[in-house]
Amino acid sequence: MPVGVFDSGVGGLTVYRELIRALPDTDFIYLGDTARVPYGARSKEIIIQYALELARYLTENYHTDQLVAACNTISSCALEAIEREFNVPTFGVIAPGAESAVELTKNNRIGVIGTLATISSGAYKQAVARLSGATAVFQAACPLLAALVEEGILEGEIPQLAIKMYLEPLIDKGIDTLILGCTHYPLLAPLIREIYPHLSVTDSTKKLIPRIDAKVENGRRIIMVTDAGGGSTESLKTRLVGGIPLKKAALS
Ligand code: DGL
Repeated sequence: MPVGVFDSGVGGLTVYRELIRALPDTDFIYLGDTARVPYGARSKEIIIQYALELARYLTENYHTDQLVAACNTISSCALEAIEREFNVPTFGVIAPGAESAVELTKNNRIGVIGTLATISSGAYKQAVARLSGATAVFQAACPLLAALVEEGILEGEIPQLAIKMYLEPLIDKGIDTLILGCTHYPLLAPLIREIYPHLSVTDSTKKLIPRIDAKVENGRRIIMVTDAGGGSTESLKTRLVGGIPLKKAALS
């Protein structure tokens, strides 16, 4: 039975890509809610409702026996609701991202960037506090960054200025480690590392992979989206996972 990976759109393919690379024999199915992306500025109630619909679609139609909320916004607002409703192991990206950052920081000062919903939930702060009471977390919501990635603007003056605008206040706080708390940001990681070479930049994937119960299956890869229209969906998908075709999912 496949692992169901879901996200507000195709950004979560940054997580899917790492999962399928690391676990080539395990079946994985991805569902991105491209019809309703972005989730990051929506209310917690709506994010929970949408996330439950995605998880229900995967468990009912594909009998997924593990779920991965690849989306930071879903993980920070809806993980408990998903766990309550579906009787399968469910993994979010917040705890693994926090674990990775706590391991990396040398001065116990971590920065987190993400959507408005992720940052205002305080989920990363709580996850870091559970692991290390001595570590301070400084956060910034960066709504422009996901939009730049959607447009494929990953290099040059415009993303540089946006990154500096959002990160400078965190740098001023003396952070030595940065959690990329949004699925889109790994695509900006090379630029962030170029601007701030002293920072340890991390995300959830390294610590997420060992949590999955890896199985020897057929290595089946399916990518479903709720709306395949719009150029950025196809081009982001191609950039991240190449030729795996997009299929249409009709949520009821
Ligand atoms: N996938 C979302 C996340 O990781 C970013 C895009 C959105 O706002 O829906 O938070």
